[in-house]
Amino acid sequence: MLRLMTISARALHTGHCITCGSLARPVLASRAISTSGFLGADADNDELVKVGFVGAGGVSFGTKEGPWNHSVRLEKMPDVKFTVIIDPDLALAKQRVREHSEGENGYKWEGCQVFKDYHEMLEKTSKDKKPDAMIIGVPPWLHGSLDVPSSAMEMDLAKAGMHMLIEKPISMRPAEEVERLGKELEKIGEEQSLIIAVGYMLRYNPAIETAKALLEEIGRKPTSIVGRYNCTYNNIYKPQWWDTLKSGGCIVEQATHFVDAMRYLSGSELRKDSIQALGVGPDMELSDMPPPPNAEHTVKAGNRVNRATVSIFKFENGSVGSLNHTLLMHGSNFYTEMDIYGDGFVIAIKDPYQHPAVFVRRPHSDDLVEVPIDKKYDMYEKQFAAFLHAVRTGDQKDVRCLFRDAARTYAASWWITEAAGSPSPDGSVPE
Ligand SMILES: NC(=O)c1ccc[n+]([C@@H]2O[C@H](COP(=O)([O-])OP(=O)(O)OC[C@H]3O[C@@H](n4cnc5c(N)ncnc54)[C@H](O)[C@@H]3O)[C@@H](O)[C@H]2O)c1
Repeated sequence: MLRLMTISARALHTGHCITCGSLARPVLASRAISTSGFLGADADNDELVKVGFVGAGGVSFGTKEGPWNHSVRLEKMPDVKFTVIIDPDLALAKQRVREHSEGENGYKWEGCQVFKDYHEMLEKTSKDKKPDAMIIGVPPWLHGSLDVPSSAMEMDLAKAGMHMLIEKPISMRPAEEVERLGKELEKIGEEQSLIIAVGYMLRYNPAIETAKALLEEIGRKPTSIVGRYNCTYNNIYKPQWWDTLKSGGCIVEQATHFVDAMRYLSGSELRKDSIQALGVGPDMELSDMPPPPNAEHTVKAGNRVNRATVSIFKFENGSVGSLNHTLLMHGSNFYTEMDIYGDGFVIAIKDPYQHPAVFVRRPHSDDLVEVPIDKKYDMYEKQFAAFLHAVRTGDQKDVRCLFRDAARTYAASWWITEAAGSPSPDGSVPE
């Protein structure tokens, strides 16, 4: 099922200095970097997987702001059928079924049922429609609890024997509760052979993947990792996104992708007692742009998310990191990058969302070279291929983020938010 994908590195190209912006001298890209790849389909296992969606919103069905759209990726995969969509907005759920039914893969949506909540689905779905796997994409405060029954979706679906791929943030509850939830889910998962994965899709991003392979090839540990995540704000129309009590704030909701990538690349955990952070609140007059409809200005002033957050921390292995998030860019493209420094080397990851690129300066070299990577492959597709393969076969070695692992990223994101000060989530479940 799996094969090795070799990224071609034969091309002559020009190294670009990331610090001064000047062109370094032309260099021949070094050795090819091998990263493990997946086939788009399970060649040896064509077992039909019945898929359901919890949430008919943007992440699973697409938005104007980003590349995500889980249903479009999933429906291209062989041997899947969509049997339920759950959303209190039944009209939206029906519209999603209608639109997909008219498409090229419409037959995969035939008979897809809609329900207003998952309890109703568990009660009323016939055996032939009961999903094997649920894709959970709902606002953060509605899921990921162990102690609050109204937000205990994952526990209920696991008890009903369903595999899950859950979108981040995995919760809005205190980190220690989410840690306990992770342990419970792992237990049920082992008892019932369930895959409970989380959508930290940057782990499948070609730039992150190449950086990880480079670290292995260089064979030295990172000493310092610097992440910069700058988000555009003029297309964010959901009031709950701007409300820290509902979204968790920009680190828990968004920069958590970089917190996770830093954990993944460093192979170590953030130390809670080391975290320091500062934030710029929404009270600072920053913009000449009119506010997007239903945005920041509609949220209670004290609950609004930070415009900028800067944090520094230590990892358990002794290395250090820093994360800088802003909500300041105009237009639609994020500006994101990450640098990894270690003895004699730097690995620079540029723009993993839109135009992923990786540069490396190896030990005993003055040259910063771009490493050719396959920019065509799609991180979301790869994530789902790994998930479906694991659902079919029970082999989860290519699922790169299971719930317990994600709970550690959630905790670190929560700690950074707390350290940056008010506003910060308090673990309560908003009305
Ligand atoms: N990994 C990524 O690339 C990525 C991208 C976008 C969003 N996300 C994450 O996905 C999650 C959902 O975001 P979104 O943009 O789809 O939000 P959204 O607001 O567009 O959609 C959420 C949907 O959930 C529905 N809903 C509310 N309560 C529900 C319930 N109890 N049961 C079922 N459905 C319910 C809403 O009616 C809405 O249609 C967020 O946590 C977000 O951070 C991840």
